[in-house]
Formats: sequence, C-alpha cells, structure tokens
Amino acid sequence: MTSGDAPFGAHRHLLSITDLGAVGIAEVMRVTDAFVEVARRPIPKVPALRGRTVVTLFAEESTRTRLSFEAAARRLSADVLSFSMDHSSVKKGESLRDTVETVTAMGVDALVVRHPEAGAPHQVARWVDAAVVNAGDGWHEHPTQALLDCYTIRQALTERSGIEPDAVGIAAFDGLRVAVVGDIRHSRVARSDVLALSALGAEVILVAPGSLLPTSLQGWPLSAVSNDLDAVLGTVDVCYLLRLQLERGAGKFLPSVREYASSYGLTARRAALMPEHALIMHPGPMNRGVEIADEVAHLPRSLVLRQVSNGVAVRMAVLFILLGSATAPSEAEALLDMTAE
Ligand code: NCD
Repeated sequence: MTSGDAPFGAHRHLLSITDLGAVGIAEVMRVTDAFVEVARRPIPKVPALRGRTVVTLFAEESTRTRLSFEAAARRLSADVLSFSMDHSSVKKGESLRDTVETVTAMGVDALVVRHPEAGAPHQVARWVDAAVVNAGDGWHEHPTQALLDCYTIRQALTERSGIEPDAVGIAAFDGLRVAVVGDIRHSRVARSDVLALSALGAEVILVAPGSLLPTSLQGWPLSAVSNDLDAVLGTVDVCYLLRLQLERGAGKFLPSVREYASSYGLTARRAALMPEHALIMHPGPMNRGVEIADEVAHLPRSLVLRQVSNGVAVRMAVLFILLGSATAPSEAEALLDMTAE
C-alpha cells in the first residue's frame, strides 16, 4: 500500500496530492459535501475546531487563497493568526526555521504555508508538531486548488445527471477528458490538478506552446500533449485555463502576449468549438483578454466563481480532517450539526 492509498485522516499534513491518492481525494470530497451544506445555512459556522489555532504563513503575494483558508478556519470556529513574511522579521534576516519555530511556540495546531520555494512546506513539516498544509510552493504544487477543482467538476457533473454525489463517487471522473491549457511551465496548479484528476481516472491533455511546458514531463500522468488548442477543444469535457504567470517570467518564453492570446486564449469563437456539455475553469486570478475572453468567463458553462466558493468548503474539510480527526466520529457529526454561537 503506498501512502497515497491510505485514508487522508491517517496523514498529519497535506503537502502533495500524492499523499492522498484516489481514496484520500474521495474522502475530502465527501467531507466537503457536509461543509457546502453548512455554507448554505443562515449562519455558516460550526464549532468543530473551537479552541484550535490555525496560522496562515504566507511568503508570497496572495489574496484569494489566504482569504479562503482564513474564512474556512473561522467557519470552523478556530482562532486564526495571519503572518505575512514580507512585512515581518524575515525582512530583518530571520530564517524560515526561526520564523516557524517562533510562530509555533505561540501554540499552533495548523500552519498553512505559501512559499516561493518548492519544498518549503515539506521542510516546515519536519520542524513542527503542528499539521502543515501546502498553500502553494513555488512552481511545485497547490494541493487544495486541485481538491477544489475536482470537487467543482464532480458537483457540476452530478447536478447535471441528477444523481446524488455520494452515489456516483469518483466514477464521474472515469474517462473524463480534461485539457489543461497555458503556462504549465510555471504552474503549481497544473501539476496538482494533473496528479489529482488522473488519480481519479480522468484523461488529462496538456495544451501549450512547447516553450511553456516544463523541461521534463517525466512523472506527469498524461494522456496527451498538444500545441494545437483548436484541434483539442472539440474532444474535451473540461477546458481548464491557466494564468500566464508574467511575474515568473512567462513573457520571456513567448514572442508576445498578444500572439499567445491569439493562439491559446479561450475566445467566444473557440468556446463554440467545445461540445455543448463541456465546462470551463480557471484558478484565478484571470488575465481577461489573455487566457480567457471576458464574455467566456461569464458563460453559464464557466465554473470560475463556483471554484472560489467551493474553495472555502474544501479547505474547511481539509482542516477538519487534519485537526478534527482526533474527535470520535459521532462527536464530529454532532459538531457539524450544531451552529456556532
Ligand atoms: C494560483 C496560484 O497562486 O498558484 N492562484 C491561486 O491560488 N489563487 C494560480 C495563479 O496564480 O495563477
């Protein structure tokens, strides 16, 4: 049994999608169903993590991911501390280890870490007793983004078929064709999504100019790689667009952003090439007019805003599984049924 086959509750941290495998991803999706239901209540808050402390430790710009984790922790009634490494003693030369040890000495149950260097959250996990969640490490991984993407796809497919999500489980992903389009080279979202979707049985096709592919695709479980978006669109169930990461130097790999947009941007004309049922996704923030046209972002088949709202419920599920699993199952269920005061 590889670690990926173990239930997620057996793990202390969430560092990579490979920690989870299909069993762990399915578990997160099941728990997320409960939190999506909580989100619909007039007071979308439960006391499940009362008395626990969650710290967001971000060494890179972020708005939505940090907000999403903090909203998730608060809706579970945890105390939330927010640490921005840009505006702190890191600027005064404190090492990551010192920062982490200082923060955890304040009594912390979970650390949500975003860092520009690949592997930084893994390192943090070796230093602390707290649970560590990778909120994006360099170009490497962004596991909660992949979990919310899988959840959003499953939700859209099951709503369409009128079948209860639990009755379908991960079968909804079997043979699903997903094109991941754009700046794969600089994207931690792409790697985590490819690992998660393929673990669930989907066929993933990367679509990008050769210069925006990673130097090696070894270990990427892909069904195809293409540089011709128009040729692929007619065959997909999901078109997942990635942001052109100009701050990571993507511009150096392209003749011009305009040329990129004309070959790889999902315009209304291109969206019309997709089968009628096919879905459009983007992790945000979107460069409108580059990887996605304004009018396409607003089509009914676009799941962009649903991805954002499901992000909170998925992160609640992750924190609950990591921190709440010490609670007996019957007690955990009771906690979800209660509304926090
Ligand atoms: C993604 C990220 O930071 O990797 N965004 C996010 O988590 N909100 C994708 C991106 O920045 O393009």
